[in-house]
Amino acid sequence: MNSYRTHHCGELSQKEVSQKVTLSGWVGSRRDHGGLIFIDLRDRYGMTQIVFNPETCPEAHTSAQKFRDEFVISIQGVVAKRPQNMVNAKMSTGEIEILVDTVVLLSSSEVIPFQIEDDVEASEVTRLKYRYLDLRRPALQKNMVIRHQLNHTIRNFLNQERFLEIETPYLTKSTPEGARDYVVPSRVHKGKFFALPQSPQLFKQLLMISGMDRYYQIVRCFRDEDLRSDRQPEFTQLDMELSFTTQREIQHIIEQLMVRIMKETIGIDIPTPFTRMSYQEAMSSYATDKPDLRYPLPLVELSSIVKNTEFQVFQKIMHAKGEIRGIKIPGGNSLSRSQIDTLTKDIQSYGAKGLVWIRKNQNTLSSSIEKFLSQNELENISAALELQDQDLGLIVADQPSIARSSLSQIKSDVLSKMNYPVDHPWAFLWVEDFPLFEYDAEQKRYVSIHHPFTSPHPEDLSNVMEKKNLSSIRSNAYDLVLNGYEIGGGSIRIHQNELQQIIFSILGLSEAEAKEKFGFFLEALQYGTPPHGGIALGLDRIAMLLAKSDSLRDIIAFPKTQNAYDLMVDAPSTISIDQLLELHLSLLEKKGSSS
Ligand code: AMO
Repeated sequence: MNSYRTHHCGELSQKEVSQKVTLSGWVGSRRDHGGLIFIDLRDRYGMTQIVFNPETCPEAHTSAQKFRDEFVISIQGVVAKRPQNMVNAKMSTGEIEILVDTVVLLSSSEVIPFQIEDDVEASEVTRLKYRYLDLRRPALQKNMVIRHQLNHTIRNFLNQERFLEIETPYLTKSTPEGARDYVVPSRVHKGKFFALPQSPQLFKQLLMISGMDRYYQIVRCFRDEDLRSDRQPEFTQLDMELSFTTQREIQHIIEQLMVRIMKETIGIDIPTPFTRMSYQEAMSSYATDKPDLRYPLPLVELSSIVKNTEFQVFQKIMHAKGEIRGIKIPGGNSLSRSQIDTLTKDIQSYGAKGLVWIRKNQNTLSSSIEKFLSQNELENISAALELQDQDLGLIVADQPSIARSSLSQIKSDVLSKMNYPVDHPWAFLWVEDFPLFEYDAEQKRYVSIHHPFTSPHPEDLSNVMEKKNLSSIRSNAYDLVLNGYEIGGGSIRIHQNELQQIIFSILGLSEAEAKEKFGFFLEALQYGTPPHGGIALGLDRIAMLLAKSDSLRDIIAFPKTQNAYDLMVDAPSTISIDQLLELHLSLLEKKGSSS
């Protein structure tokens, strides 16, 4: 028997009336009604109203006068039915209250920097600094429950499917996933560094060579890249790999897993199989490799329409190989100016520098840049976007990938806020047949679109062997997209050493470099490698969508800020001279710095 509580704060109802109970929790709010004191006692499970009556429990009532928000108390009392006019239908415990007999103050609290309520007004900076308080808010507690349930469902399902959960190292060597590494200096090996894994890609392939057959891991990955609202520097993947498998088998397993996740976390039934689309089709119809099929509206190319414009911002972007893209928001004229101003801020969290709008009201066009465009240009843009009366057009000028992804995300956000009618609120989509390589003008070489261990499409194998038509070679890679977010990516891998070496040479890696970086792996490939393939799902993004949020910060217990900083523990931070010496490190002084 636990002396702190017989029940939690979200549990009691009329069934327990007249029972003596003990509850513990935080003082949510205290109301002094000239004699009677009411407190909403809160814990993770809910809230219960407790009542201190000066006549029946004078001692407890005197103590309660001193209680303030967020004090931790334990009470004993009797469950009573609330008077009919006091019933609160919004609370699960709204039909009852506890008439307190005794109370113990377990811990007091300083005045808190913001109220613990869902419509909290404090800035995000304050909330991240006091994250442990922010996590007391019911909405964030609900998100943590969703996340827990997500992990639980995954483990149950994959265990049934005979996957083995195997842990791989965090202190390791760089794996190419396209971002920069977080590195860890070694004390023991002077001048040498570990890299934190961008993903366990090579380890999971090695596990297939070891004969583990089916592997999974719920694993933290680390990537030093430009952050957006759907990217964190450390994030969690459900990482999987299977031997003797095919793309279709992997997709089928993931579809079954998503069915279970949707049912067990939010009670939704989703249809399978998911829609499939080639990369080519996604790009030609939607100009993005992650179309949001809830709102299948195309992103319209506008660069050709405004190519002679005198508007400097557009001109500069087009000179810098950027593009102008726009999208129609049907009925979007109903949005207020301040709502549109918020969109301009929101689009920056998707990486774009700004947002231009144009709207049509009874055949009159207005725009945020009407001063800079001729009437003719406005009309041409409106025609290209096919604006009808009361429609809004949103336009982004930026580098192509940013213009497209930010515009598609802002489009989805706006239409979802407008409750725009959709056929399927959960639009899953497989995007397949990605190109194997793309040319990187900065590095002046081809780079892998997925990663260098992805196998080429069988029909394009001869081009790989002859190293020709590189941009047109397709791969056996596939992404899973949900409502416009990439929630997973995977591929069938190369399982022959010779082919792997050819791919490395196309990527500009000399034999010596390949050996230095991946020698252990190339060697392993020679000892009997089964055909294999896999996928990794972005668990944070899935949890974010399940929680109907638009920021990863809402579903990670202790997230980093947009510039990869932990405001609560104040990290990254400096280390002592002694630590630097021990690690054989000295810091380069910035040119011009006086210290
Ligand atoms: P990929 O790089 O596509 O593939 O990553 C898989 C999924 O991880 C999620 N993701 C992120 N989530 C939050 N913040 C980030 N910074 C971030 N980066 C990626 C995305 C993405 O779809 N090794 C391969 C998988 C494989 O081939 O099996 C890999 O890591 O949802």
